[in-house]
Amino acid sequence: MAEQESLEFGKADFVLMDTVSMPEFMANLRLRFEKGRIYTFIGEVVVSVNPYKSLNIYGRDTIEQYKGRELYERPPHLFAIADAAYKAMKRRSKDTCIVISGESGAGKTEASKYIMQYIAAITNPSQRAEVERVKNMLLKSNCVLEAFGNAKTNRNDNSSRFGKYMDINFDFKGDPIGGHINNYLLEKSRVIVQQPGERSFHSFYQLLQGGSEQMLRSLHLQKSLSSYNYIHVGAQLKSSINDAAEFKVVADAMKVIGFKPEETQTVYKILAAILHLGNLKFVVDGDTPLIENGKVVPIIAELLSTKTDMVEKALLYRTVATGRDIIDKQHTEQEASYGRDAFAKAIYERLFCWIVTRINDIIEVKNYDTTIHGKNTVIGVLDIYGFEIFDNNSFEQFCINYCNEKLQQLFIQLVLKQEQEEYEREGIPWKHIDYFNNQIIVDLVEQQHKGIIAILDDACMNVGKVTDEMFLEALNSKLGKHGHFSSRKLCASDKILEFDRDFRIRHYAGDVVYSVIGFIDKNKDTLFQDFKRLLYNSSNPVLKNMWPEGKLSITEVTKRPLTAATLFKNSMIALVDNLASKEPYYVRCIKPNDKKSPQIFDDERCRHQVEYLGLLENVRVRRAGFAFRQTYEKFLHRYKMISEFTWPNHDLPSDKEAVKKLIEHCGFQDDVAYGKTKIFIRTPRTLFTLEELRAQMLIRIVLFLQKVWRGTLARMRYKRTKAALTIIRYYRHYKVKSYIHEVARRFHGVKTMKDHGKHVKWPTPPKVLRRFEEALQAIFNRWRASQLIKSLPASDLPQVRAKVAAMEMLKGQRADLGLQRAWEGNYLASKPDTPQTSGTFVPVANELKRKDKYMNILFSCHVRKVNRFSKVEDRAIFVTDRHLYKMDPTKQYKVMKTIPLYNLTGLSVSNGKDQLVVFHTKDNKDLIVCLFSKQPTHESRIGELVGVLVNHFKRCKDPSPSLRTTTPSVMLLFSWTSDRCSVEPTNEKRHLQVNVTNPVQCSLHGKKCTVSVETRINQPEPDFTKNRSGFILSVPGN
Ligand SMILES: Nc1ncnc2c1ncn2[C@@H]1O[C@H](COP(=O)(O)OP(=O)(O)OP(=O)(O)O)[C@@H](O)[C@H]1O
Ligand SMILES: [Mg+2]
Repeated sequence: MAEQESLEFGKADFVLMDTVSMPEFMANLRLRFEKGRIYTFIGEVVVSVNPYKSLNIYGRDTIEQYKGRELYERPPHLFAIADAAYKAMKRRSKDTCIVISGESGAGKTEASKYIMQYIAAITNPSQRAEVERVKNMLLKSNCVLEAFGNAKTNRNDNSSRFGKYMDINFDFKGDPIGGHINNYLLEKSRVIVQQPGERSFHSFYQLLQGGSEQMLRSLHLQKSLSSYNYIHVGAQLKSSINDAAEFKVVADAMKVIGFKPEETQTVYKILAAILHLGNLKFVVDGDTPLIENGKVVPIIAELLSTKTDMVEKALLYRTVATGRDIIDKQHTEQEASYGRDAFAKAIYERLFCWIVTRINDIIEVKNYDTTIHGKNTVIGVLDIYGFEIFDNNSFEQFCINYCNEKLQQLFIQLVLKQEQEEYEREGIPWKHIDYFNNQIIVDLVEQQHKGIIAILDDACMNVGKVTDEMFLEALNSKLGKHGHFSSRKLCASDKILEFDRDFRIRHYAGDVVYSVIGFIDKNKDTLFQDFKRLLYNSSNPVLKNMWPEGKLSITEVTKRPLTAATLFKNSMIALVDNLASKEPYYVRCIKPNDKKSPQIFDDERCRHQVEYLGLLENVRVRRAGFAFRQTYEKFLHRYKMISEFTWPNHDLPSDKEAVKKLIEHCGFQDDVAYGKTKIFIRTPRTLFTLEELRAQMLIRIVLFLQKVWRGTLARMRYKRTKAALTIIRYYRHYKVKSYIHEVARRFHGVKTMKDHGKHVKWPTPPKVLRRFEEALQAIFNRWRASQLIKSLPASDLPQVRAKVAAMEMLKGQRADLGLQRAWEGNYLASKPDTPQTSGTFVPVANELKRKDKYMNILFSCHVRKVNRFSKVEDRAIFVTDRHLYKMDPTKQYKVMKTIPLYNLTGLSVSNGKDQLVVFHTKDNKDLIVCLFSKQPTHESRIGELVGVLVNHFKRCKDPSPSLRTTTPSVMLLFSWTSDRCSVEPTNEKRHLQVNVTNPVQCSLHGKKCTVSVETRINQPEPDFTKNRSGFILSVPGN
């Protein structure tokens, strides 16, 4: 059962109707037509109603929906049946055929084209060029055949006037590799005459409307349709057909298919020749027949590449062989006209058959070896003229309707047979269904010796003049008792039938009245040999090729050719045999109205078609007891979620048992029968209920699947994230490790390097190790420093510490710290600095040591001082680890002032190169001095003084941890210093404050003042002068 269509569109399968009745069938058909659902299933048959409007249901997306799906999985569609046929062919290597039937205008040709498009679209996924070429040709051949074989009739603007059966060949992979077209009885009488409202074949109009001026001129044609007798009837007809555009499409298609230019040219010449032939008129001058408009003859001769006199002769005379003599028998005017028309029809028919043969030459399967390539399978598509009833029905309609009888018979046979076989196969009792079997009508037409065709052939074979009336008489006498045959003679009261002209056949599709006029002629299909010879002798090889039998000499006796009706009958029997040997699929087309309107659903017309197509019987047969059947496996696949015994998988011995359990679980056991491989369900309601139960369960299954799927997704995401994190972790480890390795590599052996690895460039660390790198560098620097320090003598250590202290305090604030030189400290005792007085100073220092018990001399130097009275005097300062002494060098270094170091709160120096230093004291009696040096002069000693003092204070008050690790002797020294400090009255934790400013702030006995430094060019040596805010230290400059 088709799904995805709600019931608002009616039932997608007629089998699911509650009661099989005509009203319900029609109501469903109408509802679906009105809702734009033109296709409905009857089991595996597709019923199609011509929508008479273009529907958006044949596109690529629709094709995708049907591709590879089972017939019932999707709403009814031509594609479903095309896919089913294709699948059967591909899966089971079965030859299949799709038989499209229905009356004229019901949509058979359109359906056949959609089916071919579908097959083309789903095959050749690997886009093999050769297969693409074949597909293209198969599709393109349609348009050429339609141009030459279709015509506008009163029923259909594009009515097929020939039958077409096309085989598409597939290789073992299921790709199309070629094809073959069989054509059946072209309605060639249309070439010379059409009923009112109808046209001849499209090709004539296309040539006249679409051919270029130049082409028409070369063919001696003019654009006006009404100039040509053969087509002027339909010349003025309005229709949607665009002949000019079609001409180009067909010309392109012929080119693509592979028609050579000279072949296409010949085709146009033949069409032109036919049009000119139609304009020929005959008159009789005495006994001699003449061509009235003789100037047309040379044109025809030129177009057919033959000689004018020969054309003229063929038209006016007939060559007859009487014994050994050959004579030219003159035509009567009537015979000449008959000959002309027969000639025109024959040329067109030959042309059409030649086109089909030519296409077949090109599309036929080539180089296929079944031993190499596997079995070559076919899908046949039959699009044949539909059943038709015209106002005037002649021999052609008789043949066409007979053809439809044959196909209906095949349908009945196969559909019933299949059904019957299925029940037998499955072991289900078969209940016979009554249906109308049209075999009786088929027999009426084709039975040997007794049938209409046999009687017609008999009549044609009679020697002497046989008329159509005589043929009718024979029918009356031989078929008078047949229930499906009647005539006026047999039923005098039937006024519809004309005496001696009409007979009626009660066809399966309705009663058709045929006029016997022309039956004999058309059946004989006489064409004078002269015409055949004429064209065989044409210098145009294409044309010559079309007429091989013209080769026969006049005297050669040939077997009487088979009549047209017998030829047709034989071709039909062969066709039916061919179809019967394949797995058939049916499309039953219905024409909704006679107005080509997309709106009108003509109940009466449709009901009639439903009736004669036997669709209701089809439904009944299909439902013969069981509306639905399915293999156990597929049934379970679809419905197993309904029962706990079958979901998700059953553990019963077989699928059949599982299906039984499922059905019993639902309580449907009385409505089903179990076949060998299939379950059969009697009423559609059961199926609907199963569908509903399934739909309910589907929601839960979907939720379940969503749940599982979401869980799966989340787990997948989690796993991915975890994996990513692991990768990141490993990568980080790797980066860290490689950094460490790199550091180790680069710093390997730094111990032995001269600079202890100072020059080694640090590798760039990963981000995470930046702080580590800082720490590592600090450790490294410390280590390097320790290595450097280790190499120094112990006596140098105080100096190094002082330099470090000076650097820490002053770096970047003062230019010259004097780091490069040795810091002697006690400059007053140094001879170079104080050549005359050093001798005097040393005893004073020793005396002070004894008296004040200092341990170390930190610094001594000559200075120039200024005091609060602005008195400037040269003095010396002497700094020990306990005191700062101010001395007078001129008085043998008499101590002028003693400041205990614990009273010293800080130092101030300027940021210039001068040697100004202010000692700040707790009692605000600052000492302002400028250091003097003699050797060398202007040596900078500020850095040394600051370093020594800062170092001293630091070590005294706040011993750094690093010192604790120093040698025991240093420790001793340190502990001593520390002890000493602890006995001081103010042993608070403090360090020496050092200010670097200009001007320098100071406090003289509590009075604030400043000392600013100025550079003067003519200043011989530094000197203090007073100014408003304090003092100026003028220093020499350059
Ligand atoms: N599926 C369709 N969608 C749209 N229009 C359609 C469809 N089928 C048929 N038609 C319309 O109906 C017209 C007649 O259809 P088509 O030529 O297929 O009829 P037919 O059954 O082949 O008739 P005949 O027996 O005279 O050849 C088409 O030209 C087209 O306009
Ligand atoms: Mg058609």
